[in-house]
Amino acid sequence: MKTAILSDIHGNLTAFEAVLADIRSQRISTILNMGDMVGYGPEPEKVVQRVRELGIPSTMGNHELGVLYEEERRWFNPRLQKGIHLTVALLSPETLAWCATLPASLVLHGCRCVHGFPPDSVKTYLFQKDTDDLALIMPQLTESLVFVGHTHELELVTWDGFTVRRRRLGEEIVTIDRERTIVNVGSVGQPRDGDNNAKYVVWDRENGTVAVRYVAYDIQATADAILERGFPAYYANRLW
Ligand SMILES: [Fe+2]
Repeated sequence: MKTAILSDIHGNLTAFEAVLADIRSQRISTILNMGDMVGYGPEPEKVVQRVRELGIPSTMGNHELGVLYEEERRWFNPRLQKGIHLTVALLSPETLAWCATLPASLVLHGCRCVHGFPPDSVKTYLFQKDTDDLALIMPQLTESLVFVGHTHELELVTWDGFTVRRRRLGEEIVTIDRERTIVNVGSVGQPRDGDNNAKYVVWDRENGTVAVRYVAYDIQATADAILERGFPAYYANRLW
């Protein structure tokens, strides 16, 4: 009855393996992955292979779009262009072909998973929607529970039928008891929430809770590998 939901692994195999070990320790068998498996990190090919090997249902991220389609790269700022070209060089044709099959969103057990914003936006950030926007959007959501990623920050947005509330999430367990809830699960491979642990969440359908997990991993190993592969140094530095 528990499902691990994760996003934004970003080629950080060391962080991903640490998260998988944490998932195994809780005897969780179902995992959902919301895209951005590649980009920034040193092991994009191995990360995608691991996701496929484990049969983890996954959605498209903007970095998958970036490695797949030339026209999508314009969406990235110039500092990211070099990294995208390096990432493409590390990916096999088979992995690229598989990435092209990823859906924009998944609905499982009555909850929606999408990289950016519901129902199907890969590129819209949750922070682009203010409280007034959300007051219009939340009542129209088909699913009462939505998981997103993309910002690399943890956030909880609820609508109780009257009021929209939003706040940052920390290492905590949240009860899902509002009419509509959006949970931003943060990032496995490149957190930007002020804490350098890998992040993901565990949704317990029986108890109606979402637990935020912080997982320590060998940051130095990933930072070293980023530099060895010739990626910009700030990709490594921002992991700390
Ligand atoms: Fe991302």
